[in-house]
Amino acid sequence: MKTPVYLDYNATTPVAPEVADAIDPYLREHFGNPSSSHAYGRRAREAVDRARKQVAALIGGRPDEIVLTGCATEANNLAILGVTRALRTARRHVVTSAVEHPAVLQPCLRLREDGWEVTIVAVDQDGRVDPQAVAHALRDDTALVSIMLANNEVGTIQPVAEIAALARSRGAVVHTDAAQAAGKIPVDVAALGVDLLTLAGHKFYATKGVGALYVRAGTPLAPVLVGAEHERHLRPGTENVPAIVGLGEAARLARERLPHAAVHLRKLRDSLHALLAASVPRLELNGHPDHRLPNTLNVSFPRASGRALLESAEGDVAASLGAACHAESDSVSGVLAAMGIGYERASGAVRISTGMPTTEDEVRHAARALVDAWRTVRRT
Ligand SMILES: Cc1ncc(COP(=O)(O)O)c(C=O)c1O
Repeated sequence: MKTPVYLDYNATTPVAPEVADAIDPYLREHFGNPSSSHAYGRRAREAVDRARKQVAALIGGRPDEIVLTGCATEANNLAILGVTRALRTARRHVVTSAVEHPAVLQPCLRLREDGWEVTIVAVDQDGRVDPQAVAHALRDDTALVSIMLANNEVGTIQPVAEIAALARSRGAVVHTDAAQAAGKIPVDVAALGVDLLTLAGHKFYATKGVGALYVRAGTPLAPVLVGAEHERHLRPGTENVPAIVGLGEAARLARERLPHAAVHLRKLRDSLHALLAASVPRLELNGHPDHRLPNTLNVSFPRASGRALLESAEGDVAASLGAACHAESDSVSGVLAAMGIGYERASGAVRISTGMPTTEDEVRHAARALVDAWRTVRRT
């Protein structure tokens, strides 16, 4: 069986060879527990400390502001449930947006069950949050504003710096889920003005099962998991040293490659878009035309089901309908619905995302296969 062209880098990325090489000695040899005070432990501790520095450097934070976690979902839960727990006697309100990943929306809904008030701010037809809508939602008792940096399904980049300035002027803590942004666009905690920021290793060529939460010094935050003293009491549990070493190396690579990466990803994404648009009349772009991740192309094929189209093309292309996490369900994307996109257009949507290994040949092959599949499945 031939291997389909992989164009689903927003779902996950392969592990970079440099990352695999960096991890290898920590799988095979250096197995120590970073909390042990002997030589084995010290070697592991040094590796974790080095990785923490590399992660901090990627986002312009300090190493002691990085909490290493098991994934982005965990980092988001720690940010949302942790800040609200720390502020629960003084504040009772949280603001988020309608296009957040479930790893943000679900903890917010949990808070609502627990008596918090949660305002879910709407987005425009490009998937953007209007900072003024956030300003309008802010209250004296707003504990936290959590707005993602870039959307996983349509790639729209949110005006987080503007939102953060407004929220912080009202005394709210600001979190952004940057799981999709790291490695694709510059991510700098000072420029964004955020207090907390989430990263996911497997979205930028590290392994799955590792992430990080940036926590600006002084941010009120209580742990969600309780146990021993790891990660300054904020995330107990023995560190996953190999995965953390990989996260560090991936962060180093992402920082080094960013200028080139953005150009490469955009060039291939746009050439795919042009090839599709040339053969599919009335192909519609979902997401902001400019304020968008350079690798993300979400398009609606007219008179077709995106699911049927991808099934028809599956031997040639691996892309997705939207978020990988609800690829099994039949409902249309909540993100597209929040953008006011109707059922017909939403059901024809396909998310294609390019990555560092993507080539011109792959893009041409994928475009041909998607156009053929559309011609096969379209309704006449
Ligand atoms: C924006 C965003 N946040 C959070 C996550 C969750 O990442 P993980 O499943 O690694 O916890 C994802 C994964 O798709 C994502 O795209």
